[in-house]
Formats: sequence, C-alpha cells, structure tokens
Amino acid sequence: MTVAQLALRQVSKVYPTKPPLHALRDVDLDIGRGELVAVVGPSGSGKTTLLSLMGLLDTPTSGEVWIDGIKASGLSEAQRSRARSDLIGFVFQQFYLLSSLTARDNVATGMLYQGLGPAERRSRADAALERVGLTARASHRPGELSGGEQQRVAIARAIAGDPAVVFADEPTGALDQASGRMVLDCLRAANQTGATVIVITHDLSLAAMFDRQIHVLDGQVTG
Ligand SMILES: Nc1ncnc2c1ncn2[C@@H]1O[C@H](COP(=O)(O)OP(=O)(O)OP(=O)(O)O)[C@@H](O)[C@H]1O
Ligand SMILES: [Mg+2]
Repeated sequence: MTVAQLALRQVSKVYPTKPPLHALRDVDLDIGRGELVAVVGPSGSGKTTLLSLMGLLDTPTSGEVWIDGIKASGLSEAQRSRARSDLIGFVFQQFYLLSSLTARDNVATGMLYQGLGPAERRSRADAALERVGLTARASHRPGELSGGEQQRVAIARAIAGDPAVVFADEPTGALDQASGRMVLDCLRAANQTGATVIVITHDLSLAAMFDRQIHVLDGQVTG
C-alpha cells in the first residue's frame, strides 16, 4: 500500500478570536508523493492556514494531519519541530533571508537543526545554490541581490536539506513576471528531483502550469 505524502481528515481550524473565526471546515485532502500542486482561492479563504497545518507550523482545532505516514497530533512539540526540519522546506512571499549573511550562509543556516557539520552544510548549500542557478552569487548578501535572486536563495535554503515536501506561500507575489517564472522553474525542478511541491498562488496562469489545482473557498477545499 502506498502512503499519501500528506493526508488531512476532517480538519478544522478555528482561531480563538472574538467571535471565533472558522478558517477551515472539515477538510479532507490527499496529496501523493511527487505531486506538483497549486493552491488557489480568494484572499481570506484559508490557503495560508491550510499550508500552516500541512507544514506542521500550526495544529488543527479538530481532525488529523498525516505527513509521510506520521500522525502529526501524536507528536510532541519537539518531535514536530524535528519532523519539520527533516521533512519540510518552506518558501514565503517575503523571502525572510538574514541580511547580514551571504547567500551561502543563509542556505547553510537553514540546515542547522539537521545534525550536519559546518563543512557538510556549506557543501550542500553550494549544491543547492547551483540548482537554482546562483553559484556566481553565493558570496553576495541579500542587499546585493535582486528580488528574484533573493527568492531563489530562499528556495535553495528550502531544498538544501533534501526535504520530502516543499511548501511555498505566494512565492512570486513580490516579483515581476520574468523573475516569478524563474522562481517557478526552480520549484518545478525541485519537484522533478523528487520533492512533493505545494504552491499557493493568486496567479491563475501560473496555477495552470501545475499538475493539479486545489481550490480553497470559504474554508473548504473543492476540486
Ligand atoms: N492568527 C489568526 N488569528 C485569527 N484569524 C486569523 C489568523 N490567521 C488568519 N486568520 C483569518 O482566517 C481566515 C483565513 O486566513 P488565511 O490567512 O488562511 O487566508 P488566505 O487564503 O491565505 O488569504 P490571502 O490570500 O489573503 O493570503 C481569514 O479570515 C483570516 O482573517
Ligand atoms: Mg495567505
């Protein structure tokens, strides 16, 4: 039997605001290994919430999240962090690079919790930067890189530890179309070398290039 890479069973998320906000309602979803998935839907529909739950950044109010055959609710906080650093890479709209570090060190720092020595981290960082076409920029700091290059450094950081799943939340949202296309190509390349890749995007022409689209509407997953 093949185990889905990600499985959600009757997942709901209620934020404890006043009044409480039902961000997701009874979501059932299966994503297989090696899928390349776009998540689309209007602002406020629950896309980032869904990604936070699948990426073990947050816990559901009810229901079960499974990743790689592991039931997330059965993990302690420490085990969850460990699973996150072992299994998952994240890319966000705003890059979140450390401005004082070079591209190489930004990527290497992403592997701090994987139990690798500094030399191994650096060599993996260089390999990841090569995969996103930034070998020549490895010693540059974020302030010396374009927005598209910074996002490719963030992708290198996400893939350097060889994660099973890469999540990206609006990775092209702050970029022009040409840079956005390059970022998408990097994510697709990561998918072709084996990672399951899940990308939130507002851009429907971008979403059309994915194998599968998941539509989120009013806290529910359709299509
Ligand atoms: N931490 C929070 N506390 C309370 N409400 C929240 C929190 N985070 C999100 N929400 C609410 O939950 C709903 C879903 O938010 P979410 O961020 O998942 O939407 P989204 O689909 O990612 O939207 P966007 O496209 O604008 O990024 C929204 O109504 C939002 O206001
Ligand atoms: Mg969002």
